[in-house]
Amino acid sequence: MTTSYGTIGTRLHRHLFETERRYPHATGELSALLSQLALAGKRIARVLSRAGLAEVLGPSGVTDVEKERLQKLDTLANEIFLEAFAYGQLVPTVVTEHMDLPARLPENETVAASAGKYVVFVDPLDGASNLDINGAVGSIFSVRRIGGSGPILSEAELLARISQQQVVAGYFVYGPATMLVYTAGPKSGVQGFTLDPGIGEFLLSHSDVRIPRRGPYYACNEGGLAAWPEAPRRFVESLRAPDPSRGRPLATRYSGALVVDVHRILLRGGVFLSPGADVEPDGKLRLMYEAAPLAAVVEAAGGMAIDGTRRIVSIFPEENQQRTPLYIGSREDVEELEREIAAGG
Ligand code: F6P
Ligand code: MN
Repeated sequence: MTTSYGTIGTRLHRHLFETERRYPHATGELSALLSQLALAGKRIARVLSRAGLAEVLGPSGVTDVEKERLQKLDTLANEIFLEAFAYGQLVPTVVTEHMDLPARLPENETVAASAGKYVVFVDPLDGASNLDINGAVGSIFSVRRIGGSGPILSEAELLARISQQQVVAGYFVYGPATMLVYTAGPKSGVQGFTLDPGIGEFLLSHSDVRIPRRGPYYACNEGGLAAWPEAPRRFVESLRAPDPSRGRPLATRYSGALVVDVHRILLRGGVFLSPGADVEPDGKLRLMYEAAPLAAVVEAAGGMAIDGTRRIVSIFPEENQQRTPLYIGSREDVEELEREIAAGG
């Protein structure tokens, strides 16, 4: 099948080259960034495919900036992402979910006037609790522009100098096959690639993904329902109530890896919910590393992502590790939830 985004089976590099040719002012930078990201995804996929044999499973003994206990693979994936941008000129600063300060790649700070324009936010290994059972996991990335000059040395400087808009956002899913899904903004839509491990290349498999307007699934950790705010609780009850004319009850699908659950919703439709709770009013998910990039992808595919009252892509953080409730998925399902929240609770 051929679409304006390429023919199914097209290599990532060719897709990027052909996409750029359509924009006369394109500089090739986005292609370079995605190639660097793709390398990280391939390396992590390779490590994961042998994880049960290579003694890389289990805790590393290290806790991160948010006091979460890191798995050995969290640390490894973190390093792989940093290495992927090294000497690539475009990215002098990478921030990951596990670091309090941005990591500097000094060789990219001064190479050329055009160098060092982007900062990348990464959740290197999302859904790490699935690792021990050989369940699917993923990585999430978000690229923003940097203003000003000189290295970024603090969190305050990071937040003062990054763009509100994400230039590129996307994720990898490491499942039976490895996939890369990305958007370079609403106009460019969402493209999905599947890794052919035999040749080590990502090939176009999901061209111009559109999320269904409403869907058959809802995804959330219902174990915590009793502590949720009232409106999302009422909404979930309505999703469970039989109403054949609207395809309800919906079916539950929840893997425990955000990126995997949102990927299912992107392709099949429905809604993912991560509300705040009594003890964690902002919820569990991080805005910059998880919610914002997934929101960019889902919205570019025609869906919607809110924190309850605001569009996730419009929120600018006050802190790097800021958390947010997340309701994301098919437009009509999320709009219904938004109305429920506006009605109270
Ligand atoms: O990164 C946080 C995360 O691991 C997500 O991937 C996942 O959706 C969520 O936590 C699972 O949280 P819970 O254990 O509350 O379902
Ligand atoms: Mn995560």
